[in-house]
Amino acid sequence: MVKVTEQGAEDRKDAPSFVIAATEDYEGLVPFFIENGLEFSEEDETPTDIVKCWSAKDGRGVLVGGCVLARREGEFICDGIAVSPDFRAGGLGKRLLDVLVAEAAARGGAHVYLVARAPKFFAKYGFVAVERKDAPKFFECFTCPQYVKTCFPEVMKTNRNLGSYSGRA
Ligand SMILES: CC(C)(COP(=O)(O)OP(=O)(O)OC[C@H]1O[C@@H](n2cnc3c(N)ncnc32)[C@H](O)[C@@H]1OP(=O)(O)O)[C@@H](O)C(=O)NCCC(=O)NCCS
Repeated sequence: MVKVTEQGAEDRKDAPSFVIAATEDYEGLVPFFIENGLEFSEEDETPTDIVKCWSAKDGRGVLVGGCVLARREGEFICDGIAVSPDFRAGGLGKRLLDVLVAEAAARGGAHVYLVARAPKFFAKYGFVAVERKDAPKFFECFTCPQYVKTCFPEVMKTNRNLGSYSGRA
């Protein structure tokens, strides 16, 4: 379990704090992801195995963040990560990514792949863009009619083998 206190607020009596914990409740995270702009299709062509999910809750137990580590065709992927608007820019997204990447590393993964809607957030963390020709073919984005017309997602992966991964420099 990871306790995260909003950056810069440690001295305040009312400092909001967040608790990140593993959760079995994947179904409870999906509506939260959708509320926060992520798309979830019931009809993914490539089977996805959910590996582990985490929720972040505020002091009142309200869900304010979450992320999902999954596997597709043997590769680890981040299958969703989101933070409630009111809780963004406080380091919670990075902490969620920390636990997800650490879990993939502990399970012997070499990389974590994802389709980034917020590439700058992931780039800051140390993810790098993967050219379409080098990207795993299992991301449905490439066959979506919106791809590079109205939607410009980037496939990214951790920039070095997870065996040596220690998070953002
Ligand atoms: C992307 C998201 C998870 C980031 O969560 P967060 O809690 O705001 O992120 P953090 O506070 O940990 O940010 C870590 C760093 O990334 C930067 N960052 C975060 N979101 C960013 C964005 N959209 N663009 C550029 N930089 C961003 C922060 O400024 C911070 O940098 P700093 O340490 O130099 O200040 C959150 O904005 C979100 O839920 N967005 C909607 C859902 C989404 O797009 N998820 C990603 C799907 S691929």
